[in-house]
Amino acid sequence: MAQVEIIPFLLTILLHSLNPATAVSATATTGQDQFVFSGFAGANLTLDGTATVTADGLLELTNGTVQLTGHAFHRAPVSFRTSPGGAVRSFSASFAFAILTTYPGLSCHGIAFAVAPSTDFSSALAAQYMGLANIDDNGNATNRFFAAEIDTMENVEFQDINNNHVGVDINGLRSVEAHTAGYYDDTNGSFHGMNLISGEVMQAWVDYDGEAARINVTIAPIAVTKPVRPLVSARYNLSNVLREPSYIGFSSATGPINSHHYILGWSFAMDGFAPAIDIAKLPKLPRLGPKPRSKVLEILVPIATAAFIVTLGTLVVVVVRRRMRYAELREDWEVDFGPHRFSYKDLFHATDGFEDKHLLGKGGFGRVYRGLLPKSKVEVAVKRVSHESRQGMKEFVAEVASIGRIRHRNLVQLLGYCRRKGELLLVYDYMSNGSLDKYLHYEVERPTLDWAQRFQIIKGVASGLLYLHEKWDKVVVHRDIKASNVLLDKEMNGRLGDFGLARLYDHGTDPQTTHMVGTMGYLAPELLRTGKASPLTDVFAFGTFLLEVTCGQRPIKEDAQGDQLLLVDWVLDHWHNGTLLETVDTRLQGNYNTDEAYLVLKLGLLCSHPSASSRPNMQNVLDYLDGHAPVPELASTQLSFNILALLQNKGLDPYIVSCPPSSMMSFGTISDLSGGR
Ligand SMILES: Nc1ncnc2c1ncn2[C@@H]1O[C@H](COP(=O)(O)OP(=O)(O)OP(=O)(O)O)[C@@H](O)[C@H]1O
Ligand SMILES: *[C@@H]1O[C@H](CO)[C@@H](O)[C@H](O)[C@H]1NC(C)=O
Ligand SMILES: *[C@@H]1O[C@H](CO)[C@@H](O)[C@H](O)[C@H]1NC(C)=O
Ligand SMILES: *[C@@H]1O[C@H](CO)[C@@H](O)[C@H](O)[C@H]1NC(C)=O
Ligand SMILES: *[C@@H]1O[C@H](CO)[C@@H](O)[C@H](O)[C@H]1NC(C)=O
Ligand SMILES: *[C@@H]1O[C@H](CO)[C@@H](O)[C@H](O)[C@H]1NC(C)=O
Ligand SMILES: *[C@@H]1O[C@H](CO)[C@@H](O)[C@H](O)[C@H]1NC(C)=O
Ligand SMILES: [Mg+2]
Repeated sequence: MAQVEIIPFLLTILLHSLNPATAVSATATTGQDQFVFSGFAGANLTLDGTATVTADGLLELTNGTVQLTGHAFHRAPVSFRTSPGGAVRSFSASFAFAILTTYPGLSCHGIAFAVAPSTDFSSALAAQYMGLANIDDNGNATNRFFAAEIDTMENVEFQDINNNHVGVDINGLRSVEAHTAGYYDDTNGSFHGMNLISGEVMQAWVDYDGEAARINVTIAPIAVTKPVRPLVSARYNLSNVLREPSYIGFSSATGPINSHHYILGWSFAMDGFAPAIDIAKLPKLPRLGPKPRSKVLEILVPIATAAFIVTLGTLVVVVVRRRMRYAELREDWEVDFGPHRFSYKDLFHATDGFEDKHLLGKGGFGRVYRGLLPKSKVEVAVKRVSHESRQGMKEFVAEVASIGRIRHRNLVQLLGYCRRKGELLLVYDYMSNGSLDKYLHYEVERPTLDWAQRFQIIKGVASGLLYLHEKWDKVVVHRDIKASNVLLDKEMNGRLGDFGLARLYDHGTDPQTTHMVGTMGYLAPELLRTGKASPLTDVFAFGTFLLEVTCGQRPIKEDAQGDQLLLVDWVLDHWHNGTLLETVDTRLQGNYNTDEAYLVLKLGLLCSHPSASSRPNMQNVLDYLDGHAPVPELASTQLSFNILALLQNKGLDPYIVSCPPSSMMSFGTISDLSGGR
């Protein structure tokens, strides 16, 4: 405890030695007859109640707590008479004060400079009694005090003139003389009102003329020198009031409203005017409530606030838009497929926001974009498949994940997927040489492939399809074999793509096929009849593909009359006529291996046999292509099969059927073939 108290004490001493500003200059002319406190640090005062001297040397009479009193009196009493029983001598006091309020315009009760017989105010009341008297002794001549009140409340019982006045009180709070706070201008005598609770520092002078028995009280703003004309001047012979000796000091009280009453400096003198208080050395007032804002801040703060709000708003919009832009669908069951999951953000950035210049092509399921994955720098093809229903999604994603494990040099690797609302994104290895159909049917864009390349591609696709059908742990039916789904890698190897969109079924289980996927001209007759895809329907499509590559013609071509004709039927006619090699692509200009071309054409016809049981499986196909086994002779009874007529019989949209063969006739799913329209 001792240490705790010693520290501020030492601090005070240190402050004093360093800063003479707060030093007390109690220069005694005759004993303690005269002093000046420009700040109260080290002043010898008797304090009670809420009165304290702050570390800054500010005398705080009330601290903001309601209904309390505070007194600060000069510890040494003052002799007002030269001889016992004599008249009270002239004296003069001045003090700097300030009243700070918590509520603007409301304060109570005020400060009084008092000359009193003792420093015991224990019977005095707070509020309107200002810590000087109580309800019983107010005004009683036995009180023997004189006070100059700075009153901020109007109390009718004391006949106060208003709530902002200065008065001379003798023995009680009913003023002998009072005046509204203010001062008279020295130059022209005009009155300047002052607001006692403005929070400004003000100065007061209390002068008693012993000879004339006159009390003058004057107040003025701290910057104004003492006005010549006093605010209140009362004739009152204090010889009949004051005891010998008496104490001088301040009394203050709060009422129901908390207020802070401060004395910043004080000077006193007997028989003359109080010495001037050094205003420059007065302690600083504390700041109550919010800091008064500077003009600059008053302008800057709203601007800064507005800017902040706008920035925040923009940020929120940006974040929300970002979230919307990159929003994905993720469900619990997908956790297992985590490694195959791509973030939409990555795919978005990989394709520069799916910009048109990255568009590789458009198919039956959606658009395909070329992209560069931001982290791994892997080139990918991103296929956006619009997908409305959640149904079947789980199965599909499971398939994607399982298909993602399929790796074969003649298959386009499926790297993973991403789901968004109404959309599925599939990420594939990028095939730099594009799809085969571009070389076969858009010769303007690409150089024609020579026979060796074509044969190489055919063999590649065959081995890729064999892998799907037989070499992998599940039977994967591709369902959409065609030239545009054969992609060419850097070495011009044919790779089968888009098997990700086909359905899978396990070995041995009967496929429950309810949807049909495929492209006109590649569809096996039994697929159109039953809607059931199988490895043999793939073989049929592969047969058509063989003819397409060899003949350089679309699966549905036009004959000389402009009628639509299946390529298979056209080649079959030539076979019947013994002119099979006439069907070989004329762009090859005869530069091809006739044995190989003959083999491929025959194999194409065999694979496209209308009867599924007559078609070879993919292992056979590969054996024939590799020359390990001869291609069986086609039965001369093989019938031309008018698939177009079948389609019309099945009630399919004639538009699809009559669609010119040059246009992509890929269609998504036909749920019920027999239903018709
Ligand atoms: N992995 C890939 N690498 C390079 N290009 C690709 C890749 N995948 C697709 N493409 C290009 O995008 C085009 C469109 O492909 P998409 O699979 O959507 O349509 P399609 O093959 O014509 O028809 P389908 O919808 O029946 O598959 C292809 O023709 C091809 O040029
Ligand atoms: C004010 O002073 C009184 C008496 O010393 C004390 O009880 C009260 O807590 C003080 N209030 C504040 C706000 O310091
Ligand atoms: C304060 O004044 C009292 C009474 O005059 C005196 O006894 C005491 O020594 C003084 N204290 C200081 C620190 O001046
Ligand atoms: C004044 O106070 C004295 C003693 O305190 C008491 O005897 C006297 O009656 C009081 N006078 C009035 C007018 O109340
Ligand atoms: C007196 O002088 C003050 C400035 O010192 C001026 O504001 C005021 O108007 C004057 N009053 C009269 C009555 O001239
Ligand atoms: C008090 O004021 C009057 C003018 O109202 C003045 O004549 C007198 O000298 C003043 N007395 C003192 C002590 O200042
Ligand atoms: C004041 O009262 C005292 C004592 O009663 C007296 O001696 C003195 O003359 C009076 N002074 C005036 C100016 O009336
Ligand atoms: Mg495709």
